[in-house]
Order: sequence, then C-alpha cells, then structure tokens
Amino acid sequence: AKLNPTIFVIFGGTGDLNKRKLAPALYNLFIEGYMPDQFAIIGTGRTEYTDQGYKDALEDAVCAFSRTGKVKEKWDRFGNTLHYCATDFDQPQTFENLKSCIEKYQKEYGEGTQVIFYLAVAPSFFPVIAESLKKYKLTENEDNSRIIIEKPFGYDLETAKDLNSLLSTIFTEKQIYRIDHYLGKETVQNMMAFRFANAMFEPLWNRQYIDHIQISVTEQLGVQDRGGYYEGAGALRDMIQNHLLQLLCLVGMEAPISFDATEIRNRKVEVLKAVRPFSQEDIRFNTVRGQYSKGWVEGQEVLGYRQEKNVDPESNTETFAAAKFHIDNWRWQGVPFYLRTGKRLNQTSSLITIQFKDVPHQIFSGSATENWQQNRLIISIQPEMSIRMQVLAKRPGLNMVLNPVDMIFDYKGTYKNDSPEAYETLLLDAIMGDQTLFMRGDQVEAAWELVMPILNSWESKKSINFPNYHADSWGPEKAEALIARDGFHWFNLP
Ligand code: BG6
Repeated sequence: AKLNPTIFVIFGGTGDLNKRKLAPALYNLFIEGYMPDQFAIIGTGRTEYTDQGYKDALEDAVCAFSRTGKVKEKWDRFGNTLHYCATDFDQPQTFENLKSCIEKYQKEYGEGTQVIFYLAVAPSFFPVIAESLKKYKLTENEDNSRIIIEKPFGYDLETAKDLNSLLSTIFTEKQIYRIDHYLGKETVQNMMAFRFANAMFEPLWNRQYIDHIQISVTEQLGVQDRGGYYEGAGALRDMIQNHLLQLLCLVGMEAPISFDATEIRNRKVEVLKAVRPFSQEDIRFNTVRGQYSKGWVEGQEVLGYRQEKNVDPESNTETFAAAKFHIDNWRWQGVPFYLRTGKRLNQTSSLITIQFKDVPHQIFSGSATENWQQNRLIISIQPEMSIRMQVLAKRPGLNMVLNPVDMIFDYKGTYKNDSPEAYETLLLDAIMGDQTLFMRGDQVEAAWELVMPILNSWESKKSINFPNYHADSWGPEKAEALIARDGFHWFNLP
C-alpha cells in the first residue's frame, strides 16, 4: 500500500540507539523500498550540527550497523533525507525551531503527512518532551501524529502509571507506540504463526501434555559501558519485566479471533492477569538473583560487575534473575514456567523450551530406552534461529534401542534472505500505524504489577552474598537448584 508522507523526529538523534539501531533500520527500509516516497528524518540533540555535519556523523555508524552495509549511491540519497535540529529542553526556542522545521516538510508534502516522534532519550526527558509537543500543538491530529517510546517504560509500577497518565492527557492510546524490541524479532513473531497456523501443536499446548516451559535469555556480554543505567535497573527490570514476560505471553496466550492488534493485545494481557502473584514464600523459594564476579572469557580476563565503570563497588544490583511462574487458568494449571536471564553467562542464547510429558505407558523397557528423553520443542530465538522438535527414534541396528533425534526447521537452511532486524519491523509498523507488536498501557502496568513484590523484597534485603557467580558460568548455583528441585535442568543448545 502507498504510505503517507512521513516526518520522523528522533529525540536522541546523536545517541547510541540511533546510531546502532534506528538510523540503520530506516536506511535498510529505504534500501529495500519500504520507506514512503516522501519522508524526512529530523535528528535532534544537544550538539550543534549542520544537516551535512549530521549526515557525515551518522554515515560510518549507519553503514557499519545496517544489514546491507554501504551502497554508495543509496547512502547519498538516504543522506539527503537527514536533517538536524539542535535541542536544549530548557530553551523555549527549541520547540519553536523544531516546529518550523516540521512545518516546512508538512507544507512540502501536503495533506496526510504524518509526524512520528521517537523518544530515544533517558526517561527523565519523556515528560518535558511530551508536554512541549502538546504546548506547541504538534500532536493534535490523532491520525497523523504518533509517539514511540523506548524502554524503560517506568521504573516501577507507580512511575509507569504516572507516565501512562501523563501521556494520556496528550495522546490517545492509538497514538502511543511503546517499544519492546523483542516483539519485532522474526523468530518471536513466528511464535504466533507457529502456534495458530498449524493444527498439530495447539491441541497439545496445555497442561495435559506439557510438563513445564523454560524461557531463557542468556548473554555473554557484561554491562559494557551501561553501568550508569544498569545500576538502577538490574536484570528483573531490564529483561524480565519486559522481554521475558512478553515471551511468556506469546507462549501462554489463548488463540486470538483474528490477527488484529486489539484482539492480540487483549489475549496477551489476559495471560499476565492470570499469573499467580508472588507471595513472600514464593520469592524466597522460587526466585534467584545473582551478580557476576570477574572471570575468563575466551582467554581474556573480564571485570566483575562491581568493578565495571559507573558501578558502585558494593553494588547489590542483580545481573542475573530466575523465577518460577505459574499461570492460574484452565490451560496452564500445574505447569511451571521457569524464566531466567543474565549477563556474563556461558552462552548467548534465547530459547523457549516446551517440555512435553512422558508417554502414559512405556512399552520400551530397559536398555531399549537407554538414552531416554522426553519430547521437547525448542524454539531458538537467537543467535540460532530455529525450531527443533526432539523425538525418540529407533537407532539403526539389530537391537531395539531408542535415542532422541531432532527434526529441525532452520531459518538459514530454509530462507536465503536475511531476516530484517527487529527495529526495521517495528519502525515500519509505526509508519503504517499497526500497533500489534507494541505494548499497550495496561500490558506494561500488568507486567510491573507482577514483578513489584520481587523487586520490593530484593531491595529490602540488602545482605546478600554478591557476587555469587563467575563470569562465563551458568549463573548462581541456586538457579540450578530452583529447577532441579522439580526434577529438571535448564536446557541449553549443544
Ligand atoms: C535490552 C537490555 O533491552 O535488551 C539489554 O537493556 C540487553 O541489557 C538487550 O542486552 C538484549 O537484546 P538482544 O536483542 O541483544 O537480545
């Protein structure tokens, strides 16, 4: 479909997110012919740049971080759409300037031009920007103006509610796009196709056949240079409240009636509402937090969390979190969902593992089941993009011996083209006005509500023996114990 002319305003246009993700994503969309025929990108920031200076400043980054790399002639054309407007939020002049820059393109592009404001700045700037947009009447047309908000959406339930209510005085929900970039990942989007476009999984997708589910997002990297932000966040806020709970929603949701944003978001929020609230006892027994100490990664010594830049040497911020969740509804009663995430772990891998129950009666006995393993479905989100079904098969030979084999759907083997980056998908959806892959206000609040008791309890009990896992390990021993108690272990790809 023909897209409306679009003016894309990026607050934080000189920042890291723009360099690494937003500008490269817009550039790729442009190269592949998805951008509207008429569009302008206005970057803003505190530094002074001319348009040309800004274009030059972005060039290396965009070409390094985009999937397609540099295509000289395309870069030049894309570069011509980049503009710059210096901002200082204390100066009223800032929004005057921005407004006249926007109006210039509105005039040029004519009727139906839409303006998208992307807030890629620290959350403390959200209110002043949102309020100024209102004051300068930049958001009045509901159909043609949108705001995209990066995480973190709130620091806790209360601040998330405050932000939602502030935004709702300026925008309608239809105009607000809250980003959770996990939802833009190709493999994550495929979860719905896989579950609801096939007849063979959904009938088994419940407590009768599923034993438990694991959602694991492990990272080899440490906090890098983000200590300043991470100190006030920790793994629960940084990953579980948003990304992992979104994955839990996709695995746990009921079938939507149609592929429609409201419908899908309703089904997802229902999952969050059905999650059993954590009691003090649950927190004690069913949650684990950890923090990495120094260690060796591929022959190189790496710092412990407390030694990282901008981190308190006595910090109690967790860099690892694991918890056992329950969903109290008909489908999932009695099926535990184990979630874990952490930094400086042994592998970078995002996996959803569906562990099926054992067969009701085992006819193969003794040595025949030597390598006995139950059925598993493993959805690998990244870096490997695949879905594996583990089943038992007879090992060739004269004896009846079974062993597990994998049936694999591997993106690399199946599709020639690269998958788009999450931000490409999400930015294009925002341009097209499709909110399916964005978080609705009530969803964000429901997710905060779930993690608040854990956050509060962890914050009130400071006497913990951090650090409690080595860089390059699988996290604290207690995380193994959490799942081992129920007779399982964390599943990792070989
Ligand atoms: C971000 C977190 O939201 O997600 C980071 O703030 C984390 O700490 C990142 O590293 C992980 O994203 P991805 O796409 O690399 O899995």
